[in-house]
Amino acid sequence: MTKLVVVNRAGAETEVEAKDGLNLMEAIRDAGFDEMLALCGGCCSCATCHVYVDPDFAARLAPMSEDENDLLDSSGSRNASSRLACQVAISPDLAGMRVAIAPED
Ligand code: FES
Repeated sequence: MTKLVVVNRAGAETEVEAKDGLNLMEAIRDAGFDEMLALCGGCCSCATCHVYVDPDFAARLAPMSEDENDLLDSSGSRNASSRLACQVAISPDLAGMRVAIAPED
């Protein structure tokens, strides 16, 4: 299990235990955050799992695929910290990472 801090759209922070091997979208939903729609179920085709990750951890994440980059471009709230949570694998390297659920587009 890897501890993360999830920030909801209202700005409230919650520490969650994420199971290694899951993706970040699954971990956030398993922790009870229903504001992350994740409509495509993790197929990298909806962008409703948009999150902002702690910049200090960005280099520890797998590089963004072209599909993820294109989908994020369709979001009006993309910034330099944007990732699609379903494309980020949970691993012990991410312990302590702060991740904020992005506004709904
Ligand atoms: S859940 Fe659809 S792109 Fe991540």
